[in-house]
Amino acid sequence: MNTPLSFASCRPTRVSIVGAGNVGGTLAQRLAERNLADVVLLDILPGRPQGIALDLMESSGIEAHNRKLIGTTDYVDTAGSDVVVITAGLPRRPGMSRDDLLRTNAQIVAEATKNAIVHSPEAVIIVVTNPLDVMTYLAWKVSGLPHQRVMGMAGVLDSARFQTFIAMELNISPKDVSAMVLGSHGDLMVPLPHYSTVSGIPLTELLDAATIERIIDRTRNGGAEIVELLKTGGAYYAPASSTYAMIEAILLNHPRFLPAAAYLQGEYGLHDIFLGVPIRLGCGGVEQILQLKLTDAEQAALLKSAASVRENLDQALALL
Ligand code: LAC
Repeated sequence: MNTPLSFASCRPTRVSIVGAGNVGGTLAQRLAERNLADVVLLDILPGRPQGIALDLMESSGIEAHNRKLIGTTDYVDTAGSDVVVITAGLPRRPGMSRDDLLRTNAQIVAEATKNAIVHSPEAVIIVVTNPLDVMTYLAWKVSGLPHQRVMGMAGVLDSARFQTFIAMELNISPKDVSAMVLGSHGDLMVPLPHYSTVSGIPLTELLDAATIERIIDRTRNGGAEIVELLKTGGAYYAPASSTYAMIEAILLNHPRFLPAAAYLQGEYGLHDIFLGVPIRLGCGGVEQILQLKLTDAEQAALLKSAASVRENLDQALALL
């Protein structure tokens, strides 16, 4: 019998995902298969998170990763997480008003955040549940965390869609495209063509205004286009990839400039609101908010976007 030598215990990096829907499951897969972190997948639906986690564990030998995945309905199992992703919530269903969705998801996100943070007080929180900018504010409010450690994932997704459509239009690799979208996650988002480049060349020098407008329009409706195609739910591959990119920047401390919903205190003329802006994202969370020079039209669009978030936020806070 070989007796193992004594060894120092190493604490593996851990990400908890609250909500084992398609985004949660796909994100768990990316995190484990790319060997970034152990994953705890939590859902209120007994069996579902356990089933997904076990299924993913059973592919670990083939995918050659060494990460543990746990499925659970108990927040105790999420203890000590470095990052908590909140993706729990309902998608909008036929017959459901925006208010119904707001009320339901506000309660779900508030509960999930409170429960998760008790067991992982040092975590960075990334919110994915819609309406994104409002839910991120609520999560921050109930978490009691410094605002640097709470953010919403949407800018990376919206920019990824813009990037993809630019690459499709020019018939080049998306790798060469760097795109930037600010504002709320919804049809009032603010894509920024002159801050979007292809191998360093401003987009505005490569495509005419009408073509850019068409691509922007498709980007704004990117989420809705997928819902229309799938019929039974929303996008999840690109949302999971986008969330993964943010977690990687945090856990590996490879700081990146990315757009995300972050807390504003005067930047862009906005106060006490979470809205999509370019940030420096690193191990500390939101390490900096980058202030870009915007055209008058872009600034106006950003304010309009913020006004709609504010309206929903006031409603959501009143509902809680
Ligand atoms: C979308 C959802 C994830 O834009 O908000 O597809």
